[in-house]
Amino acid sequence: MWTSSKEIDSPDEAAVGANFGAGDKMRILVTGGAGFIGSHMADRLLKEPAFADELDAVLHIAGQVSLIRSFSDPTFDLRANVEGTINVLRLCLERRVPRLLYASSMTVYGHAAALPTPEETPCRPASYYGITKYAAERYVHTTAERLDLDFDFHATSFRMYNVYGPRQALDNPYQGVLGIFIGNILRGEPLTIFGDGEQSRDFVYVDDVVDAWVGALRNPASYGQVFNLGSGARIPIKGLAMGTLAAFERNQASHPVLHQPARPGEQRHVEADTTRARTILGWSARTPFTAGLADTILWARGAGENVRDAAGSAGRAVR
Ligand code: UD1
Repeated sequence: MWTSSKEIDSPDEAAVGANFGAGDKMRILVTGGAGFIGSHMADRLLKEPAFADELDAVLHIAGQVSLIRSFSDPTFDLRANVEGTINVLRLCLERRVPRLLYASSMTVYGHAAALPTPEETPCRPASYYGITKYAAERYVHTTAERLDLDFDFHATSFRMYNVYGPRQALDNPYQGVLGIFIGNILRGEPLTIFGDGEQSRDFVYVDDVVDAWVGALRNPASYGQVFNLGSGARIPIKGLAMGTLAAFERNQASHPVLHQPARPGEQRHVEADTTRARTILGWSARTPFTAGLADTILWARGAGENVRDAAGSAGRAVR
């Protein structure tokens, strides 16, 4: 079912066949298919799997996702996000793949002037990570617009906000604050809030993100477009910490919460204007945060054995 491809410089790419209706097979390559978002995407596409002969689309999700690592190892970040995307583009051109969907990020905006932020906002990334995500996005669209291509090549980018949900890493301090907080609680560790905790993020549930990608895959209205994928609401990080503790029937009095200095290159407030996705794709995030949080915690409790095993072997306190 899963085949890897030598053309892409990434360990976890996967090719999947998907059937979008009778006689309507597509062969799709998902880069980052073993990662958090990519695995959900591949699952959805595999629901009715069937291989066609040619590669019909590439969903390029693989990448370096940590803003912190982009500062500590900018070369790695550049290679993974920009060179990795150039490799994917080379594959698309060589194989004449007609369709590319690219996982961009809200970090391309930097300290955005307007909240909620529409896609027309000038991009001024505030982190090296934001620079490489934006550079790769431009490579994708500039390639799709090349006049010297002798086949139709259509690209769409999704500037994703803070995607959360089942399979989010629970033990990686560089990945996704909600997964980090849940992992902290399950392992009996203190939560850490960077900065004053008043900074806010727009959390969007992973299934909603998959809906947008799959909906756009064969929708010509999305060709050449860039879409924000967020919920259109924002949650302060301090509020997120308290809400996550409450979901475990804890609070600040019963569970330690530490404070550390703010991290470099961070946006202060983040909130998507999703008018374009609503208008062109008919998409909007449907999962209320409380429901998504409950599902994520349910999954994490199930994954808790592994978390606790990992914590034990790392010599951390186990609750
Ligand atoms: C996240 C993603 C990034 C993605 C972007 C847009 C990660 C690691 N980063 O960036 O790949 O492109 O959203 O979708 O998933 N925080 C704490 N305590 C913690 C961890 C984090 O206070 O233990 C704070 C951070 O300082 C930040 C906020 O929580 O203010 C969100 O951090 P994080 O989840 O790492 O995501 P972003 O940096 O927003």
